[in-house]
Amino acid sequence: MNEYDSDRIRNSLNYETTQDPEKADVVIINTCAIRQKADQKALSSVGKFKHIKAKNPNLIVGIAGCVAQLYGEKLLHKIPHLDLVLGPRAIPKLPKLISQIKQDKRKSVETSLDIEEVFEVEAYHEEGKVTAFVSVQQGCNKKCSYCIVPYVRGKEINRQLNEIIKETTNLVNKGVKEITLIGQTVNSWKENGYKFSDLLKLVADIEGLERIRYTTSYPRDVTRKMIDAMREISKVCNHIHLPVQSGSNSILASMKRTYTREWYLDIVKRLRDSIPDISITTDIIVGFPGESEKDFNDTLELLEEVEFDTNFSFKFSPRPGTPAAELKDVVPETIANKRLARLQKLQRDITLRKNLNKIG
Ligand code: 5AD
Repeated sequence: MNEYDSDRIRNSLNYETTQDPEKADVVIINTCAIRQKADQKALSSVGKFKHIKAKNPNLIVGIAGCVAQLYGEKLLHKIPHLDLVLGPRAIPKLPKLISQIKQDKRKSVETSLDIEEVFEVEAYHEEGKVTAFVSVQQGCNKKCSYCIVPYVRGKEINRQLNEIIKETTNLVNKGVKEITLIGQTVNSWKENGYKFSDLLKLVADIEGLERIRYTTSYPRDVTRKMIDAMREISKVCNHIHLPVQSGSNSILASMKRTYTREWYLDIVKRLRDSIPDISITTDIIVGFPGESEKDFNDTLELLEEVEFDTNFSFKFSPRPGTPAAELKDVVPETIANKRLARLQKLQRDITLRKNLNKIG
């Protein structure tokens, strides 16, 4: 999502790019706020441009993305060499804001979440690249208790079908063979009576396109029609990224994930019954507040049971404004570290086992 947004930032400005910040007229740092570490990294990246700005006062330094959205105007006070704070919904406004900053010699903040034209700018496409992202959805309507996304990316907006087809066709005309449809909960996409399964079919009709992927799916929005579409459309790759987050029902409830372990396992069964060689990958959070040794073992057992091809796993990170940040029963850092290491070791073993099975 952020890579795509960075490419949109680049395209919207239509500047020549440089790897040398000393030569730049504009530097925009795109940022992620999903965990505290990303958030801190973002701010220290902005710090690196202080000296360059001191040498070149005409340089415009901006921060974009979710950290910009989260802290807003405060960043201008905290970081004196910063000229612009731009939320993730405001990318289409960037060129205008840059010219205003140049003209008026004033700093600028745009963090409104009420911007409807969020899809206006397409992503920059590198010549010769055969893969591309296509955004089909912005924001998120789910209420997972740990997650900052709804606060910084706003409510779910689904992109119009004809725009998705148009952008994909443009990319295919430029030589793209594989697209990845992206959205926070991509399979909840719906627009004007069309559902996600229809979207897969209609995108697959584009001649010259060879592969379709999509990410990230929300378990509760996996439907029969969607599974059928995956099975029937040969262009749709047999892979689903389906974050489970935890294998413990009490933790899932506290995370407000709206499904149980059994419900998730049933979806996995339905996927595998239809598409036997499907790859399933997932996201896991360890050390969520209240996670007992038993809860954690439930997660390890789920990993063994599903045999994910791989997973992305994270230690719980309290995010400002989210309900989970207020939960008491915090898991000590040392325990969370150990759990993360155990879980990652188990996944490495499973991944190796699965890969060894493919020899020959
Ligand atoms: N702490 C740790 N991990 C988180 N994720 C989202 N919010 C948090 C948080 N507060 C993880 C989830 C999600 C992935 C993109 O990031 O696993 O699926």
